[in-house]
Amino acid sequence: MRNIVDHVRLSADETKLVILDQRRLPLHREYLVLATKERMYDAIKSLAVRGAPAIGIFAGFAMYVLAQRMPEARPEFDAQFRETADYLNSSRPTAVNLSWALRRMVRVVESDPTSPAAALLPRLRDEAQAILDEDIAMCRAISEHGLSLLRDGDGILTHCNAGPIATSRYGTAIGPMILGAQQGRKFRVFSDETRPLLQGARLTSWELMNAGIDVTLICDNMASIVMKNGWVQYCFTGCDRVAANGDTANKIGTSGVAILAKHYGIPFYILGPSSTVDLNTPTGADIVIEERDPNEIREKWYAEPMAPEGVKCYNPAFDVTDHELISGIITEKGICRPPYTESLKKLFE
Ligand code: MRU
Repeated sequence: MRNIVDHVRLSADETKLVILDQRRLPLHREYLVLATKERMYDAIKSLAVRGAPAIGIFAGFAMYVLAQRMPEARPEFDAQFRETADYLNSSRPTAVNLSWALRRMVRVVESDPTSPAAALLPRLRDEAQAILDEDIAMCRAISEHGLSLLRDGDGILTHCNAGPIATSRYGTAIGPMILGAQQGRKFRVFSDETRPLLQGARLTSWELMNAGIDVTLICDNMASIVMKNGWVQYCFTGCDRVAANGDTANKIGTSGVAILAKHYGIPFYILGPSSTVDLNTPTGADIVIEERDPNEIREKWYAEPMAPEGVKCYNPAFDVTDHELISGIITEKGICRPPYTESLKKLFE
């Protein structure tokens, strides 16, 4: 299996961040070398790096790289470190992994207010590496728990991309199938193309093909017929923020998949690391949904704009799936079942 494991990494001299540009996939495998906070902000905002866990991993290494160019003197270093973390955090509001990872990095600085700034650098590097290493272990465990539900021959429908490039390795929603394929298991995956940015068409189908998994790409509005045909035994999707009551924000269109799955009696599972569970957000109504450029709907991907010039568009990047539609939330610690207010709280006890 060809599995990309170097999509977010440090340059050899560790002064820059190197990322696989996900906007160019699958046709072009291009890397961006990032040294400034503005370019890092833009990489998150423009989805050169995307997927909640991958954004968190990126943020950890970004803070380590940027810290190397901050003032040596402590109060100035601390102030600039916090300001830079706030700046990166403002790039995308929905995925909690970004603020979670940035908070971890800020805590390293706050936990030692007196040492010279240079002494903090190795600790910042260790923390960024820990965020990455923990994600690898979490994705592996999530994949094992997800795989335990599947029988050979099952059809699984997924939405957006929650694969290796959206995380560290394996991925979350497609991790079980990738792990299963390594063990000789056979599944059939339906990948929603995921308008408007086509993460399913460009990334999920590419990753699954690379892993030797039977994948069929469908338009988002074809999920119903595929379910009605009896081809789907499970829906697996990732998550960007899971609220304390189990309401879950994920790529726009996910809630529609869950509603369809309920209609056809198909179990709908959310898969994600516990770092995506946010007990400080009580319900889905408290999750900020990112709104993006209307041109992503009107003209992106088309040789010519395909909608009337100036037409009004509504382009939310995520939606919230009501917890009542979710059969289970699979984290590295196992499968949480309703009532989620209790099972999610237990993850952190
Ligand atoms: O806008 P994106 O492409 O960053 O949205 C990504 C998703 O919605 C994923 O499903 C989610 O981040 C989980 S990735 C393991």
